[in-house]
Amino acid sequence: MRVRLWSIFLFLGLLLPIAGILRAGQASASQSYVGSSACKTCHADVWLNFYKNAHYKSLASGKEPPEKTGCESCHGPGQAHLEARGGKETIQAFSLLSPPKSMDACLACHADQFSRFQIRRSSHTQASVACSNCHSIHKPATPRHSLARQQRDLCYGCHAGVRAQFTMPFKHRVNEGAMQCTDCHNPHGAASPAWRMGVRPAMTHTSASGEQSCVVCHADKRGPFAFEHPAVRVDGCETCHSPHGSTNPRMLRRPVVFTLCLECHSGAGNFGRRRDGISTQSGSHNMADPRYQNCTTCHVRIHGSNADPLFLR
Ligand code: HEC
Ligand code: HEC
Ligand code: HEC
Ligand code: HEC
Ligand code: HEC
Ligand code: HEC
Ligand code: HEC
Ligand code: HEC
Ligand code: HEC
Ligand code: HEC
Repeated sequence: MRVRLWSIFLFLGLLLPIAGILRAGQASASQSYVGSSACKTCHADVWLNFYKNAHYKSLASGKEPPEKTGCESCHGPGQAHLEARGGKETIQAFSLLSPPKSMDACLACHADQFSRFQIRRSSHTQASVACSNCHSIHKPATPRHSLARQQRDLCYGCHAGVRAQFTMPFKHRVNEGAMQCTDCHNPHGAASPAWRMGVRPAMTHTSASGEQSCVVCHADKRGPFAFEHPAVRVDGCETCHSPHGSTNPRMLRRPVVFTLCLECHSGAGNFGRRRDGISTQSGSHNMADPRYQNCTTCHVRIHGSNADPLFLR
């Protein structure tokens, strides 16, 4: 037994240096960087447009080595490809890469920028939507961000149902070009917010201080208020509003305001300031009187108030 172990160690001892020499030899023969100008003759179309590319800028400065900028920063070392006079297998060809592998190639440089949005766990990544589904490095449709199509068409290309929501009578004017999907969403993923128990749905932005993206534009709803309505602060705007569009005025989720309120204000539970759950309206509210059905005619500061705990002013 002991003899056999010895021979195995001896065998490995001889094999490892040999493997090392082989690998080193391979590297020098075919894994060298050749510089972008070597690509010009055969890929003139790609090469001639590259000066417009964001990835070209640092290349032009001449300060960076070829593996950090230029063609080989994404396609890997080009020597073997040159020696074979082309071929897809001799170089990193994105047309042959699986979505995770092609994302790895981009994240080699962009990981720091996107890791705080948890890009590896974003809905897009989990559905195998990779960078090149949205970005086109060589044939971009937009001068900024190198998008494969204009943003609206890009997103609708896969989210046809959302287009219908933005044609409803009450809506944000995305189709009219007044705002964009990325005013509210980050297609790369979402950072954990400082509220809603750290869970933000549907890859929506959070501002630097962790608030929902809505208050960037609707600043009067930002607060903090002396008297907060927990529905706004804790649950978020989309508990009462359909963010894309709605058939109801003010983009509310329900056509009649009081049905929205009574979904929560049912007296259920034993929490809250008076430990009586989410309070029901008091006896003074005559619900048979239509006047009382539009709750926000009296509770006008429904998003929070600095003057009144019942949001009456
Ligand atoms: C930022 C990364 C990146 C850089 C830098 C880059 N490429 Fe590409 N290349 C890609 C991706 C991704 C594709 C796949 C098609 C696409 O998404 O545009 C591609 C596709 C190609 C193709 C296939 C044909 C085509 O047009 O789709 C060729 C050839 C090519 N690149 C050559 C080059 C050359 C030559 C350079 C330098 C001038 C270069 N690439 C620089 C990422 C890059
Ligand atoms: C001698 C000509 C030649 C040179 C020089 C050359 N290529 Fe190619 N390249 C080809 C040919 C031919 C193909 C195969 C095209 C095919 O099969 O569709 C190819 C394919 C590619 C592909 C794969 C495209 C795909 O379909 O995904 C990439 C990426 C690429 N080349 C990048 C480069 C880069 C980067 C350089 C410079 C380092 C370079 N090439 C230099 C001839 C060349
Ligand atoms: C679902 C579509 C989509 C996917 C997938 C996607 N992007 Fe983007 N990306 C966009 C859009 C749209 C913008 C423009 C954002 C804006 O207008 O604010 C953008 C902007 C960018 C920017 C510039 C803006 C910034 O934050 O500095 C970079 C860099 C970028 N993307 C890299 C990547 C990389 C790398 C990947 C893959 C790991 C990727 N993207 C995947 C849609 C996408
Ligand atoms: C070798 C490092 C490196 C790799 C690999 C790389 N990038 Fe970049 N990328 C950069 C740098 C640096 C910038 C910033 C350029 C600037 O600020 O002007 C940039 C900028 C961008 C931008 C925003 C600029 C614009 O307007 O187009 C997008 C989008 C982008 N990269 C996408 C990609 C995608 C997709 C891939 C993979 C196919 C990729 N990058 C691979 C280094 C890299
Ligand atoms: C005004 C902000 C805003 C704009 C603009 C916006 N969204 Fe949304 N979107 C949201 C919010 C908030 C949610 C989460 C809704 C929820 O949890 O009920 C969401 C949910 C989604 C969802 C997942 C839920 C579903 O309906 O399937 C998709 C997909 C989506 N948005 C795509 C888009 C696209 C594509 C665009 C641009 C055409 C866009 N959004 C523009 C705020 C916005
Ligand atoms: C290549 C197809 C494709 C493109 C392009 C695309 N998406 Fe998606 N998106 C998906 C898939 C697949 C999912 C996951 C399944 C689902 O929820 O529908 C998804 C999910 C989403 C979600 C829901 C996230 C969640 O957690 O519920 C939002 C929001 C979203 N995408 C926004 C966008 C925006 C904004 C754009 C444009 C910048 C865009 N998408 C472009 C395919 C795409
Ligand atoms: C980029 C700025 C911007 C962002 C972000 C934004 N909105 Fe808006 N919102 C507007 C504008 C501008 C209007 C005016 C309506 C129009 O465009 O015709 C509006 C209208 C509204 C209305 C209807 C107001 C009325 O008087 O009928 C509601 C409700 C609303 N937004 C809620 C939200 C919610 C909820 C979010 C977050 C999910 C949000 N908004 C994010 C700009 C924004
Ligand atoms: C408890 C439900 C509820 C929540 C949560 C809520 N809203 Fe509202 N919001 C309403 C009601 C009800 C109206 C209609 C008020 C009226 O008609 O007088 C309204 C009206 C609006 C309007 C149009 C009128 C105005 O006051 O400017 C905007 C804009 C708006 N909300 C934005 C937001 C934003 C942004 C958030 C998240 C910060 C939010 N809402 C959260 C119930 C809510
Ligand atoms: C998502 C659930 C939710 C919705 C929807 C909601 N609220 Fe509230 N509301 C609360 C909670 C939680 C409190 C705090 C209760 C407590 O502290 O005891 C509260 C407090 C209040 C208060 C202060 C009185 C009190 O008991 O503290 C008023 C008034 C009020 N809401 C009115 C409304 C009106 C009007 C609507 C409809 C436009 C509405 N709410 C929709 C959850 C909701
Ligand atoms: C005509 C004005 C008016 C309308 C409409 C109205 N309220 Fe009130 N609400 C008040 C006043 C005034 C108070 C404080 C005195 C009281 O309790 O009667 C109050 C108190 C409340 C309280 C606190 C009750 C408590 O026990 O502290 C809640 C919850 C409430 N309203 C919810 C609603 C809801 C939900 C609606 C819509 C169905 C609504 N209100 C419609 C005027 C109104």
